Amino acid sequence: MKKNYEAWNVKVDNFPHDKNLRKQLEFLIKFAVLAPSTHNSQPWLFKIEKNRIEIRKNPSQTLDVADPNDNLMYISIGCALENLLVAANYYGFKYNLEYFFSDFDERVCEVSFRSKNGAKDDREHLIFLIKKRHSNRGKFRQDLPDETILNTIKGFSTEGISVDLVQQKKVKEKVVNIILDAREKAFSDRSFRKELGSYQRNNMTRSFTGMPGFTMGFPTALSFFTPFVLNFVNVVKILRKKDKELLLEYTPAFFVISLDKISSKNCFMAGRIFERIALIAEKNGLATSFQEIPFYLEKMKETINTNNLPKILVRIGYPYQRMAHSPRFGSDKLIY
Ligand SMILES: Cc1cc2nc3c(=O)[nH]c(=O)nc-3n(C[C@H](O)[C@H](O)[C@H](O)COP(=O)(O)O)c2cc1C
Repeated sequence: MKKNYEAWNVKVDNFPHDKNLRKQLEFLIKFAVLAPSTHNSQPWLFKIEKNRIEIRKNPSQTLDVADPNDNLMYISIGCALENLLVAANYYGFKYNLEYFFSDFDERVCEVSFRSKNGAKDDREHLIFLIKKRHSNRGKFRQDLPDETILNTIKGFSTEGISVDLVQQKKVKEKVVNIILDAREKAFSDRSFRKELGSYQRNNMTRSFTGMPGFTMGFPTALSFFTPFVLNFVNVVKILRKKDKELLLEYTPAFFVISLDKISSKNCFMAGRIFERIALIAEKNGLATSFQEIPFYLEKMKETINTNNLPKILVRIGYPYQRMAHSPRFGSDKLIY
């Protein structure tokens, strides 16, 4: 296995029970780094001090064009924290959480570990799904996920954040048109395409960040050209018909995560919720993929009839095919 995929090799049963607390906290971080992130930029760093893990912004991995307000970075770090806490729960840790949402503070949150009971003897625990989760941008079957799973996910709504299911054909069609318009608008900005292109990787890549072509379904030869094509052409305009078919005919349902206001804190919390949805989905043989809603939030709000501002669209369904993992930095490169 190439070095840039080795982070996925973490084994749940290799927890260093007999080692000191620092080694144990380092092990938890191995699960955090498998989280999804915008453009697979992995905008996180970890600081371990005594019994605490701080998750910090990684200033070298911010996206100036796609994410000028750091909203996507906060969502990504929310996903990483969720993985960390799922792992902490499995190994029996108790903890306190503190958040810092300031432009002037590189810390985003701090987890203080209080005590540890024995690890759970539960092979159904969500920790086992962290290694399996991946963004699946392929076709899903038409049949809807089981109602109990859908209701569990809807139940993730919390103060300031709502999770709505979209499955009705007419509403789906409107939602898809809005997201395609929003994407087309984002891609009409050449600097956006250039930045995205700088995170596109060919299928043989040794890079630890970014998205290899196979994660988008591109064959190897084509994957070498995508950054250049993106730079010069608004591809989503050309691919609109195909994308529409994928989103309508091959996506049985969407979840929309909406926020009462677009703030760093809400984005971070929405990231935690998204990661939980992705893990629960994976546990039930379902696949997910994630779309930020960059524009037309008011229109989306009216369409799905929510009081909040829709920020994240999640495709969910039973996949025809699993996709391969994207690369990751090993946790050892991100801890200081
Ligand atoms: C905040 C955020 C925004 C994302 N936006 C998109 C998106 O607009 N379109 C898309 O195809 N994937 C999107 N993704 C998925 C990432 O590209 C994906 O997580 C990353 O490439 C790593 O791959 P993995 O999820 O398979 O591990 C987003 C993920 C996050 C966390």
